Amino acid sequence: MTDTEEFINDAIRLIQEKSGGEKVVIALSGGVDSSVCAELASRAIGERLIPIYVDTGLMRKGETARISEIFGPVGLKVVNAADEFLDALEGESDPEKKRKIVGERFIRVFEREAVKAGAKYLLQGTIYPDCVESDGGIKSHHNVGGLPLNIQFDGVIEPLKELYKEDVRNVAEALGLPGEIAHRMPFPGPGLSVRVVGRVTREAIEVVREANAIIEEVLVEKYRPWQCLGALVGLGTGIKDGKRLHGWIVSVRAVHSEDAMTAEPVEISFKDLKEIESRITSSIPSVSRVVYDITSKPPATIEYE
Ligand code: XMP
Repeated sequence: MTDTEEFINDAIRLIQEKSGGEKVVIALSGGVDSSVCAELASRAIGERLIPIYVDTGLMRKGETARISEIFGPVGLKVVNAADEFLDALEGESDPEKKRKIVGERFIRVFEREAVKAGAKYLLQGTIYPDCVESDGGIKSHHNVGGLPLNIQFDGVIEPLKELYKEDVRNVAEALGLPGEIAHRMPFPGPGLSVRVVGRVTREAIEVVREANAIIEEVLVEKYRPWQCLGALVGLGTGIKDGKRLHGWIVSVRAVHSEDAMTAEPVEISFKDLKEIESRITSSIPSVSRVVYDITSKPPATIEYE
């Protein structure tokens, strides 16, 4: 038996033991970690698994529709909680507080859904680097240090806690999950809120969502980065339609990495960078400037907050 097959058998046993015959809610985001968890759990406990996707209003463009399409047939419940998350985040500028707010909201949504479904356990796709960075005080990933202390569940089950992302991708392939899921680009739990440096507003979230969609369109297929993204990093003076514009500065980031613990910037051609710039500045009226971030991790993290 390979290590991956052994891991799959152990994880299935762990989920069966820990859930003790009760129903389990899984936070399914469509990312590789939670999708692997869902597949393992569905093999472990079948219909006792309740997969739930929360639309936080902080997702990438088209993401909710695509995830619903992929997982709808296996009973995914989509909960639209965008107003709840955006109201709670409105005006917040502290990165750690954003994570805590998102972590807290997630749990409250899952608690409500668990009561409706009669579920006692929460299953999460937390992986090893999430724990290391949270424990090391770098940032509290929403699914680790970001969780509130008073959780109304009998327990949280985290079968992937000792794996790196590459291991998870191997398990995804061994489980036969579609390539689109096994190789999906990582996306942080606090979503676009940590791609707006400083104050979160609905307007800023809309702008950064559009910018991320353009960046992904230009870069994903061609460069196959570990991750690419855009963040609003401040305001700068520009000129549009002959008038002065104090508009958003979008910083583009694209990195290659093995495990997200370290990362190197991708060498993007100047032509592709100009395409990103011209598409963003021409289609988003409030953006005045686009820059490319060439910093490795460390010293910079992959996300801006
Ligand atoms: P950083 O920015 O720490 O990111 O270099 C490493 C990887 O983790 C993702 N990330 C997060 N994921 N909650 C998450 O679920 C978070 O709070 C969070 N912060 C960063 C990031 O997108 C990258 O893949």
